[in-house]
Amino acid sequence: MAKRTDVLLYGAYGYTGRLITEEAVQAGIRPILAGRNSARVEAVAREFGLPWVAFEITDAHAIREALSRVQVAINCAGPFRHTFTPFIDACIDTGVHYLDVTGEIDVFHRAAARHADLINAGIMAMPGVGFDIVPSDYLASYAKTRLPCAQKLVMAVGKVDAVSRGTATTVLDQLGRPGLARVDGRIVEVSTAWHQRKIDFGSGPELCITAPLADVFSAHYTTGIPTIECYVALPCPVSAWALKLFHPILKPTWLQAFLRRRLARMKQPGPNPEQRAAGRSVIYVEAESTDGNRIRTVMRGPEPYTMTASVAVAALKGVLAGRARPGFQTPTPVFGVDLISACDIEIEDLE
Ligand SMILES: NC(=O)c1ccc[n+]([C@@H]2O[C@H](COP(=O)([O-])OP(=O)(O)OC[C@H]3O[C@@H](n4cnc5c(N)ncnc54)[C@H](OP(=O)(O)O)[C@@H]3O)[C@@H](O)[C@H]2O)c1
Repeated sequence: MAKRTDVLLYGAYGYTGRLITEEAVQAGIRPILAGRNSARVEAVAREFGLPWVAFEITDAHAIREALSRVQVAINCAGPFRHTFTPFIDACIDTGVHYLDVTGEIDVFHRAAARHADLINAGIMAMPGVGFDIVPSDYLASYAKTRLPCAQKLVMAVGKVDAVSRGTATTVLDQLGRPGLARVDGRIVEVSTAWHQRKIDFGSGPELCITAPLADVFSAHYTTGIPTIECYVALPCPVSAWALKLFHPILKPTWLQAFLRRRLARMKQPGPNPEQRAAGRSVIYVEAESTDGNRIRTVMRGPEPYTMTASVAVAALKGVLAGRARPGFQTPTPVFGVDLISACDIEIEDLE
C-alpha cells in the first residue's frame, strides 16, 4: 500500500480530479490534494480525510515545495496546455514522476520534447492516463500484434453520451486549430473534417470525421506504425458538412467567450452517477498492410469518466510499485494490459 504522502493530485476539486480522488482512496492511496482555490481544496480534503495544499500552478516555489513531499504527481487541471509546462518543469526539478489526464495532442508533443530532460532527472512523464488515451493506446498495440507489418492505422471513438464542463471547455479551447493526421511518420496539418467515412462500431455504420486526437501522436510511439488517422463519430450526418462550413467562423475569441459563458451555466459539472453507471464507451481500430491485409477490432468499455478514474488510479499504482520508466512514455509499452484490466472491457475482432 502507498505511504501516506506518495502522491500529489492537482485539480482535486474539479469533476475528474474528484472522481480520481474517490477511486484512489478506495484503492488505499492517500494523495495530498491540491488546487489553486484553498477553500475548495480544503472542502474535498475534509470530505475524504486527506492532507491538502493550495497554490497557483505558476507559483514556482510553492509547487516545488509541494512536490518535494511525493514520488508521483497527477495533474487533473485542464485545459492542460495552460498547466503542463510549469508542472513538468517543477517535476523535473524535484525528481517527481508526472501523470495527467489530458487528451490534448499539443501536450504530448511538449512532453516528448522534454524526453532528454526527463531521462536526466530519472523521471517518467506519461500524459493521457484517462479514457484518452489508455484504451485506444492498448487497442493500437493490439492491432499491431494482430498485423505486425501494418503500415496504416485508423482509430475511431464512438459517440459519448455526456461530457463534463471541463471537457467542453477544453474542446472550446481547441476551436479554430487545424486538423492533424500522421502520414509516413510525420504529423501533417489537414483541414477540419478532412476525411469522412462510415464506421461500424457494432450496431451499424455511423458517420465519422477525422479529428486531431492525441493518438495521432501517441499511437506512433506505441506501435511504430507510420500512418495514422483518428476519427470521431458524429451525432447526425448533416453535422459533418455543417462543421466544415462553420468551423472557420468559430475561431473568433468573442464567440469562444460567448460559448464559455453558456458552459459556465451548465447545471452539472459532468455526468451524474446514474449516467456514468448507464454509459458505455466504444473504440474502433483498423490496421492495414501494404500487401492488402487488414484487421478490424472494437473495444467496448465503461463510460469514459468512470474509465478515466479507474485507469488513472491503476497508473498511480503502477508508478508506486516501481514500474515507471524514465522519459516520455505512452501507457501500453510501460504497463501493458494492466491499466485497462482495471475496467470491465470487451474486445471483439471484426475481421
Ligand atoms: N483524457 C481523458 O479521457 C479525460 C477525462 C476527463 C477529463 N479530461 C480533461 O481533464 C480536464 C479537467 O476536466 P474536468 O471535467 O475535471 O473539468 P473541471 O471540473 O472544470 O475541473 C478543472 C479543474 O482544473 C483546475 N484548473 C483549470 N485551469 C487551471 C489553471 N490554469 N491553474 C490551476 N487550476 C486550473 C480547475 O480549478 P478552478 O476551478 O480554480 O479553475 C478545476 O479544479 C479537462 O481538460 C478535460 O478535457 C480528460
